[in-house]
Amino acid sequence: MKKAFYLETFGCQMNVVDSEQIAALLTGLGYHQVGSAENADLVLLNTCSVRDKAERKVYGHLGRFKPIKDKRPDLIIGVGGCVAQQEGEKMLEKVSYLDLVFGTHNIHRLPELLQEVEQNRQRGCETTFHDRDTRLNLFPERTVQESVTRFVTVMQGCDNFCSYCIVPHVRGREISRSSSDIVAEVKSLVAQGVREVTLLGQNVNSYNLKNDEDVSFPQLLELINGIDGLQRLRFATSHPKDLTAELINCFGSLDKLCKHIHLPFQSGSDRILKLMNRGYTAADYLDKVARLKLVCPEIRLTTDIIVGFPGETETDFQATLDLVEQVRYADAFTFLYSPRIETAAAKMADDQSALQKQQRFDRLLDLQQQISAEIWETDSDQVLPVLVEGESRQGEGQVFGRTTWNRIVNFQGSTDLIGKTVAVKITKVFRNSHVGELAEAE
Ligand code: 5AD
Ligand code: SF4
Repeated sequence: MKKAFYLETFGCQMNVVDSEQIAALLTGLGYHQVGSAENADLVLLNTCSVRDKAERKVYGHLGRFKPIKDKRPDLIIGVGGCVAQQEGEKMLEKVSYLDLVFGTHNIHRLPELLQEVEQNRQRGCETTFHDRDTRLNLFPERTVQESVTRFVTVMQGCDNFCSYCIVPHVRGREISRSSSDIVAEVKSLVAQGVREVTLLGQNVNSYNLKNDEDVSFPQLLELINGIDGLQRLRFATSHPKDLTAELINCFGSLDKLCKHIHLPFQSGSDRILKLMNRGYTAADYLDKVARLKLVCPEIRLTTDIIVGFPGETETDFQATLDLVEQVRYADAFTFLYSPRIETAAAKMADDQSALQKQQRFDRLLDLQQQISAEIWETDSDQVLPVLVEGESRQGEGQVFGRTTWNRIVNFQGSTDLIGKTVAVKITKVFRNSHVGELAEAE
């Protein structure tokens, strides 16, 4: 009988891609995926450690599997991803019923590790970082699911060492895939019915910066824009410091590139930006935003903001609010600063109270929610192109898709529309999505 695996994924889009690779490897070993740990022979968590809360969640989740393991000692439990990379062997010590730990560079080792557990009941841990060349060959196949949109990794790792961030420590140095591999992958996805790809990397602007022999990121976008059958192209995430004029111009010249950019600014205070080691000032950032809006007046921005960085004063925080008002983001992910082991900021003095931080966080959220609501409201009564992705969970006979600004639209329509771009009139604007009605098929 086929063995069953249950896989839960936390954190960013990179982990989503890694989980697709894990699923493909396990399928190759004769496993099939199930939706609950109760019936599984193997339970895997693909984890995130970007903030303390995400990390604690992993231990909470593991606790849920203990009673199942008590009943069925043959159940294999494993942890991969960023917490696994950071904690290594310590996780096996802390969690007595855990069988294996595999780091961010070791997904390809999963079959061997599993075999050791299955055959010898030998608990295993592998968190070795691989060098650039080995790592480049470690982009295993992914599961092939029918879907209109897919992520495609173009680079991994980060060399920026922002002072608060654990990513460079758990994902290692930057490496870029070859443009020919990426183009081939996108072409094969398009042949399978994919219509939109999001190019992924911790910092896509660093794509091939260390390799003069292959194309730059803007050139890669141009190559992908030219692939027949692909309708839309997105990318995430860009570091403002490396956002070049050439890349900004792509928003004016590439017809498939969606009019949306996620451009984290983290803080509006130059003093804090310096302590964060971000490599730009608020004025540099605003200058790039102005150029983006000039090249593509319809562009909408989203961002990430950290509140409560060590030593942040009311004046620093006010600069963040000012920047939010100036840029007018369509949406923002706001985070309370969370000290991370091994990072430079974790050693910085911090004299603010938790209450002070929370109050600032709430003020920022209020402001952003008001701006978001105003921006989304401008879509009301507009007829917008929507790429239809699938059946909607909102109700019988409804499908959903996204606008160029990545906003979900639910509307009454046939499943025949899936994979097509159609014109939809926006009739209602909710906090997280729009409702519309089909205007005409394109
Ligand atoms: N504390 C709070 N937020 C963080 N981020 C990264 N590290 C931390 C941290 N230590 C946020 C940043 C980043 C997003 C992915 O997570 O805003 O852009
Ligand atoms: Fe972390 Fe900064 Fe690298 Fe982004 S650019 S992954 S915030 S170190």
